[in-house]
This record gives sequence, C-alpha cells and structure tokens, in this order.
Amino acid sequence: MTTYTLPSRGASWAGIKGRLAELQSLDWSHRDGRLPLHCYYANDDVSQVAAEAYAMFASTNALAPVAFPSTRQMEQEVVAMALGLLHGPSGSAGCMTSGGTESIILAVKAARDFAAATRPRKQPNIVLPRSVHPAFDKAAHLLGLTVRRTALQPGYRCDVAALEAAMDEDTILLVASAPSLPYGLVDPIAEVGQLALRTGTWLHVDSCIGGMLAPFVAKLGYPVPPFDFAVPGVRSMSADLHKFGYSAKGASLVLYRDEADLDYQYCRFDAWPKGDYFTPTLAGTRSGGTIASAWAVMHFLGEEGYLATTARLMRLRDHYIAGFRALGLEVLGPPDLAVVTVTAPQANIFSIADDMRERGWYMSLVAEPPAIQQTVNLVHEQVAERYFDDLAAAVQQGAARAAAGIEAHDARAVVTY
Ligand SMILES: Cc1ncc(COP(=O)(O)O)c(C=O)c1O
Repeated sequence: MTTYTLPSRGASWAGIKGRLAELQSLDWSHRDGRLPLHCYYANDDVSQVAAEAYAMFASTNALAPVAFPSTRQMEQEVVAMALGLLHGPSGSAGCMTSGGTESIILAVKAARDFAAATRPRKQPNIVLPRSVHPAFDKAAHLLGLTVRRTALQPGYRCDVAALEAAMDEDTILLVASAPSLPYGLVDPIAEVGQLALRTGTWLHVDSCIGGMLAPFVAKLGYPVPPFDFAVPGVRSMSADLHKFGYSAKGASLVLYRDEADLDYQYCRFDAWPKGDYFTPTLAGTRSGGTIASAWAVMHFLGEEGYLATTARLMRLRDHYIAGFRALGLEVLGPPDLAVVTVTAPQANIFSIADDMRERGWYMSLVAEPPAIQQTVNLVHEQVAERYFDDLAAAVQQGAARAAAGIEAHDARAVVTY
C-alpha cells in the first residue's frame, strides 16, 4: 500500500490546481472523443451549466429538505419532468439517486418488501434475461434474493418464453432492459408486461441508458419499441440523468407507476436517541449538487434542445453504423438507440481492437459474442472521420492476420470495462 499522509501544512489553491491538472492528465479525456463509453456530451454550454449548477449546490444536503427546501423542490420537478417523458400516469412518483446501480437496488428492494408484505416466500427469486446489468445481481446479493438469468433470443433480445419457464411461485420480480448495455437493444417490454400482468409479478424496466434518450428518439420518428409506463405491466423504471440526460455524474431516477410503491423503498427508523430518521434512498447525506445539475440541464435544453441534440446524435449514429458496415463489420440489431455493438465475421475483432488501442483509441469490448462497442454521443462528431480511417487500417491488418492463420489471443482475457 502507498504511504501517503495528510500534508502537515496546507498549500495554495494555485499549486493544488496545478497538481490536479497533472493528475487529470493521467486520464483519458472525456472531451476528445477517443472514449467510446463512460461520458456523455451534448455541447460545451450544457457541460458548463451542469458543472456550475453542481458547484452552486455542492455543499447543500438533500437529506435535510427542511434546511434545504430547494433540493426537494428541484428533485420533485426533475422527477415530474422525467415521468412526463416516460408516460408516467397520474399517481406515478419517484426519487433521484446517485446512479443507475442505486436506482436498481432501490427498485429491487421495493419489489422485495412489497412481496414480503403481501405474499411472503421462503426463498424469493428474480428472473431476468442474461443481458441485464450486474447491478441486479448486486441488489439481489444485498437483499437476500436468488437471481435466475435466462438465455436470449438469437437476436440478443429477451426471450420471453425463457423468462416464463424460469419463473415459479417464489418469483417476485421480472426485469427487462431498454436498452441492454451489451447489445444496445430494447427488450420486448410489451410482451414481458403481458407476462407480468398474467402472473401478477412486478416488472422493472431498466432504462438507465435509454430513459432520457428514447423519448426523444421516438418523437423524432425513429422506431423505438414501447418500453415505458405506457406499457401495461411496467411497475418501476430506472433512468439515468448522468447518461443521455447530460447532467453531472451522480444523477439517476427510480420511478414507480404508483406512488404507494415508494413506501417499500423508503427507510424509516426511530429506535435511537435522536428520534425519527427518514431517508428516501440508500444514501444519508445527498449532495444537492447533482440534483441542481440535472434540474439546470433539463431547463437549459428543454424539449427543443433535447430533440435537436438527439437529431444530431441519431445522424451521427447512422454514420457510425454505415461506417462499420462499409468495412465488412456486422452491426448487431440494428441498434434501437445510440449503443452500437459490432462483430467481425471474417476476423478477430479483439485483435482489431488491439490495433485501435495502439492508434490511441480506448476500446469498449463485449465478450458474447466477441464485439467492440461504441456508445455514440456528440463528442464523437469531431473524430468520426479519423476513427474510421484508423479502423479501416486495423480491419485490413486483422484480415491479413486471419488469412495467415494468426490468432491474436484469448478473447475473454482482454475484455475491459
Ligand atoms: C443498462 C444499465 N443499467 C444500469 C447501469 C448502472 O448504472 P451506474 O453505472 O450509473 O450505476 C448501467 C451503466 O452503464 C447500464 O448501462
């Protein structure tokens, strides 16, 4: 372990800022377009609004809405705006959380506590397609639930018959994605909703990626499978504001069709000396910064801004799809939104990815099937041409290696997140 100690005396901000800049230089830039995931960009003005609003409220604490009523008001308004986009009916409700994982843990907790209150099971289980995010396994582990992951359809979407076959009387929750992270494809939520209604099972739709994007993609006339509260049977959703909502990191939503379900998520406690303690989410202290950031960006962009951003994004996505295909690569799907997953039927895609790394690109890989992945956002506009020039060269080298029978390496060993 490094021994690093608190300096005995403080330093000047100018010096510290210089040191922070040095540290930042260790990182991949989130602004030069060479990262295919992790960061989401609309434009410089949006980034500035997100950061300044965060800074204004960084020291406030949403744990204490009596002291900081602004944080509660902004949170309620963000939730209401999102529910408006996601067809939340009257009586729907939700909370802001620190990220998709927390939103998911809370929804799974609500489903578990609802089941325990209405029909307790010995060993409750949750049933989900193999492509859903590991946050559900994390949640199940924390909450004492068993997870059953089911095989996908050949086209990588949820196989609803496989979900049904995995269910039994101890199943308390079904999950589907809109879209899934590995494939960028929206599961057949309408069919899963029917299964949920027929069996009386809670259905959660994980739209961490799509929640703040799919509504605008659909409004622009692209075909988006129904995925939100408009679908009968969808009882809760997760939707990240820090992805295509363009908020500062640390902002997501957990949403419920019926406000009454929020009660199963909440934590209340009074058997200690300080009396009543209530937290709506997992956190105690919650920075008002993330709440203000999301609120400010949503007001800054408005529907018009999100639509204009999304229109450009979808044109760029189509450019990427066409670019991959022009190089003989296969695009899974086609993608429903902006996550593009690409295989190489004639070559080893991971060795192509290695070549791309050597050319200065951070590569996002998928293990099953071996694939590279690009979560397209507007930060990639500036580099698309260079990316495809480099990819063309890497594909050519990959083809030469394949022709010479040279295998690059064990595919699974190199998958990084
Ligand atoms: C579909 C999906 N669900 C959940 C998550 C988890 O979100 P977070 O990393 O914000 O906790 C992600 C993150 O990429 C995701 O893509």
